[in-house]
Amino acid sequence: MVDVPGVDCTTPNAARIYDYDLGGEHNFEADRAASEEIRRTVAPTGPFIARANRAFLQRAVRFCLDQGIDQFLDLGSGIPTVGNVHEIAQARNPRARVLYADVEPVAVAHTRHLLEGNAHAGIVQADVRDPEAVLGSPEAARLLDFSRPVALLEVAVLHYITRQEQAGMRRYRDVLAPGSAVVVSTLTADQREEEAARVERFFAEKTAAPVTCRTADEVRELFDGTELVPPGIVWTPQWRPDPADPNGWEPNRAGCWAGVGLL
Ligand SMILES: C[S@@+](CC[C@H](N)C(=O)[O-])C[C@H]1O[C@@H](n2cnc3c(N)ncnc32)[C@H](O)[C@@H]1O
Repeated sequence: MVDVPGVDCTTPNAARIYDYDLGGEHNFEADRAASEEIRRTVAPTGPFIARANRAFLQRAVRFCLDQGIDQFLDLGSGIPTVGNVHEIAQARNPRARVLYADVEPVAVAHTRHLLEGNAHAGIVQADVRDPEAVLGSPEAARLLDFSRPVALLEVAVLHYITRQEQAGMRRYRDVLAPGSAVVVSTLTADQREEEAARVERFFAEKTAAPVTCRTADEVRELFDGTELVPPGIVWTPQWRPDPADPNGWEPNRAGCWAGVGLL
């Protein structure tokens, strides 16, 4: 693990819980204990939610590449794990450009470390609720050309944005050129109200990042102004599934709606 000074390793953190659920190693005892507690008492499918979401992200990136998109803005990109966005994109197109943004210091430090020597990918440490901190960063100017299509990845991050804050996120959409893509997955309470209420309570009480679960209608609104590509808004494992993807639970136990819209 890269040494990251000043990190509060005693409070469970969403990025590091997710890393642990994916089988990663960039997490602390408090994160592992929180993940185990979630699995035991809050939502038994916790790791399935993470793995199904990550697999969706990877399929969606490949879909964007198939559309000819070679630039990616990944909001709330997380701790690097196997099959990161730049790895998938640059395997297909070595000149593909990726800008990651995350607020969590461990995620940022590990991403920086991984990207050393990669001229076409970078990370900005920012709170994505402040779009200018991301869009106006030197890294954005260096890596992304907004006169051409960009894939905006908002994957498993919008549930950390409250309904009141959501309107501010519209700024990211406003700078996208025609042909761009919007990729979203987000936690929902649909079909699992009690479990989702427990998840919301857990994150509010035990972490510094409370979560908001959205309905399918709210997720649909996030795609206003885009053309939703088939199959529309579905559970993460149902979005253009790959036989190699994780399964073992009913798709709705993946707990996240997912979709991709084209501008
Ligand atoms: C569950 S992880 C998702 C990682 C990746 N997008 C994926 O789907 O595999 C959520 C990430 O969003 C980040 N995050 C949460 N709120 C954020 C905020 N306001 N600004 C920037 N990053 C944020 C967390 O630090 C974490 O790394």
